[in-house]
Parts: sequence; structure tokens; C-alpha cells
Amino acid sequence: MSDVSGPGEGASAGPDVAEEGDPLLRVEGLTKHFANDSGFLSWLNVERDADGVPVSVGREWVRAVEDVTFDIRRGETLGLVGESGCGKSTLARTVLRLVDPTEGDVYFEGDNLAALDGEALRRKRKDMQIIFQDPQSSLDPRMKVGPIVEEPMKAHGMLDDDGREERARELLERVGLDPQHYNRYPHAFSGGQRQRINLARALSVNPDFIVCDEPTSALDASIQAQVLNTMRRLQDEFGLTYLFISHDLSVIRHISDRVAVMYLGEIVELAGKEELYENPQHPYTKALLESIPVPDPRKSETRGVLEGDVPSPIEPPSGCRFRTRCPEFIAPEQYDLTPEEWANVRAFTRRVIRHGFEMTTRADLEAEFFTEARPGGAAGEALDRAFVLLERGEWDAAADHLRESFTEPSICAREQPAYEVDPEYGDDRHFCACHLQRDAEMTH
Ligand SMILES: Nc1ncnc2c1ncn2[C@@H]1O[C@H](COP(=O)(O)OP(=O)(O)O)[C@@H](O)[C@H]1O
Ligand code: SF4
Ligand SMILES: [Mg+2]
Repeated sequence: MSDVSGPGEGASAGPDVAEEGDPLLRVEGLTKHFANDSGFLSWLNVERDADGVPVSVGREWVRAVEDVTFDIRRGETLGLVGESGCGKSTLARTVLRLVDPTEGDVYFEGDNLAALDGEALRRKRKDMQIIFQDPQSSLDPRMKVGPIVEEPMKAHGMLDDDGREERARELLERVGLDPQHYNRYPHAFSGGQRQRINLARALSVNPDFIVCDEPTSALDASIQAQVLNTMRRLQDEFGLTYLFISHDLSVIRHISDRVAVMYLGEIVELAGKEELYENPQHPYTKALLESIPVPDPRKSETRGVLEGDVPSPIEPPSGCRFRTRCPEFIAPEQYDLTPEEWANVRAFTRRVIRHGFEMTTRADLEAEFFTEARPGGAAGEALDRAFVLLERGEWDAAADHLRESFTEPSICAREQPAYEVDPEYGDDRHFCACHLQRDAEMTH
């Protein structure tokens, strides 16, 4: 038996063998929930259901990554973007099996990582490297740069001492550093240079795939651009595939071929870079794009700002996780409202829930929120009831009543939107998880 798997010959043509054109990485239904140990009744043991999946019994679960599916093709860069805390790093660590998934599969070069045992996984890890945001803490200050770069080669039994030193020096040069600096300590280098050392170290074991978790976020803008350009050059030279994570849409635009947008543990939209930036479909993506400062003066007057905070992943909103902040939240079907009436109802509901004004008289409130467009019919009656409660000073009851009347019956709160596939454009497809997709006319 041999564990040397050369390309092609000798390999059996079983279903697990990666074929030309297959994605390098395929992630299917990946989910990661953490037990929140500072949470309520955290001393309780984890209980598992018949499938071995942890179930919550008085213990809080942080639902950091939920049912994520995507693939990455050989040689491409998939950008992953989303606000801080939305689960990007957890997704990255779960993909690499640095943490075990709660559910789901990750196929790398055709092998299911979840099915690999310790030694097989260790060998596979050589092909999958990760670079973290903080170049300071990821380099051991007591080690010289040369041995830092050689460490992964040593761990995987690559080359002898002389061979490793030669390769380390060559790699330092390839990432844009002086090979003479082999004997220096990390503190002698700037942030950008330290990130180049990390690159050399990741490259030392000749990986196919590198996860870059906010690798330039701690750097100044000009240094950031230089390091990104080096990463692109190295991608071509070494035939690398990247999963590139950033909260910064401009960085993602610079480096990516396709882009996945993440919100509260879920991927809400995925498309080719040009398609995503020119024709965003998901309200969250649109809001993110509108909040990038645009130098074009014709666009500068409309600056959409995302309202409110990201909800807790411990109790994510029902239905669509973005619904608590979505500017396009869909009106319940039972009401027949104009867009203006619905916008007024939404603004009023939000303000009542936030207790965002002083109660004066009903007439003043009507004038403040509903002068132009006041719904009639069932929606009007629901508003009447809210006003009565407010006049009695019963804020919580008014808020509950508005939630029950206008939030909970919406499809956005009732049903989780499917991760729909748009019509194809070119060689790519556009995925978007939003109920508006059902009737939307796609223009490609
Ligand atoms: N080990 C952990 N235990 C509990 N919660 C965690 C753990 N790691 C991350 N989280 C939580 O998971 C969520 C996603 O975090 P993270 O993946 O770091 O987001 P991002 O990288 O997008 O900023 C956050 O709410 C975070 O607090
Ligand atoms: S499903 Fe509803 S709440 Fe979610 S993004 Fe679409 S319109 Fe907004
Ligand atoms: Mg992170």
C-alpha cells in the first residue's frame, strides 16, 4: 500500500477521486454552534439527539454558522464579506476543521474532511494553510524569521535542515523580503513585513489552498494595497486558491473573483465580483454597498445606513435573519398597502418598539407619522388599537400589538428564504436568500 498519490496514474477511478473541473473545495450545509459557557445553566451537560447533534436543554447555543453551502474553484479567490461578529472566522476555522463542525461536510480535493482521522487530516492540512489578521501575535517573538518559516516544513517532515534553510531564504525573497534577514527576530519588521513572513511560512509546505482571515485589516491603507498585490502575484506563481475574508468591501473588490456575503451566520448572497457589485440583489448587500463612500458625486446624496445592531446569534430572528434591519421588509399579505403607507407603518412600529418618542396627543402622532399616507381597512384598525394603548401609556402592550399585527405575519418573519439560484450569467450563477427573489425580474 502506498500513500503517495501522484496525479492520475494508479489512482482508482472511484467516486471520491477529484476530477478536472471539480471545485477544489466544496462546503455543504456547514453549521457551527458553540455552547455559551458563560450562559444560563452552563453547568448542564450537552445532550445529543439520535443523530449525535447537540440539543439545547437550558443551555445557550451561539449559532455562529448556519447551513452554509458554497464551493471554491481551483485558482480562484472567493471573497467572504460581512460585519464583525457575523461568523466569518468561525466559518474559516470550521472549513479547515480547526474546530469540528456541528453539522455539514467539507470536501477538499474530493475528500470529506469530516471523515478523515487524525493522521490523514494532519497530512491534508499541509495543503490548506491559514493566515490570520494579527501579524504581531501570530509570530513567536522568541524565534528568528528563518526557523519561523521552516516550522511547518519541519512539522510535515519536508526536506533536511539545509534544504529547509535554502527554501526559507528563497521564499523570503519571493514574498518581497530580504533573504539576508533570515536571522532577524519578528520585532525588527513592520506590520506589512510580518504579514509577508506569515505568507512565506504558509507557502513553505506548498499548499493548494490558503484561507486569509482579514490578513490586511490591521495595516495602513497603502501597505494594505502592497500586500494584496503581492498576494495576487503569489497566487499566480504558486497556483493558489484563496478564501479571502474581510469586513471591508473595497478590499474584497480588489482581490476577489467571486464574493459571498455573510450575515449573522448565513451566506445571503453569492455572485461573481462584477455581478455582485453592479447588480446586488440582497437588501443587506445593497445596504453594505451604499455605505461605502463613493467618490462619484452623482451618487453621494443617497447614503443608506444600516439601522440598528446585529442581533445576537444566540437567538437569531425567525424567518429571515436580516429582517430586523431590512429596509425592504415585506408587508403582511392580508393588508393592501401602498409603499408609502407601509413605510409609515414600519417607521411608526420601530419607534414604538424603541420607545423612541414622548407621548403627546394622538392627533400629534398621526400628524408626525401619517399625514401623507394613512392606511385604512384592517391595517388602519390595527393602528387605531395601537393609538388607544399609547394614550393609556401602555407602551409594551402597544409594541406587542404592532409586532403581532405588522411584523410577525410578514413572510420575512414566518419563513426562512431559500438560497435561490438566479438565472445563469456567463459561466456563473447568482445566489440570493431573500423572499423578494420569488417575483423579482432578473436582469443580466
Ligand atoms: N469559541 C467560541 N465560543 C462561543 N462563541 C464564539 C466562539 N467563537 C466565536 N463565537 C461567537 O460566534 C460569533 C461569530 O464570531 P466570529 O466567527 O469571530 O465572527 P467574525 O470573524 O465575522 O467577526 C460571534 O457572536 C462570536 O462571539
Ligand atoms: S427576506 Fe424579507 S427581511 Fe429578508 S432580506 Fe428579503 S425582504 Fe428583507
Ligand atoms: Mg473574524
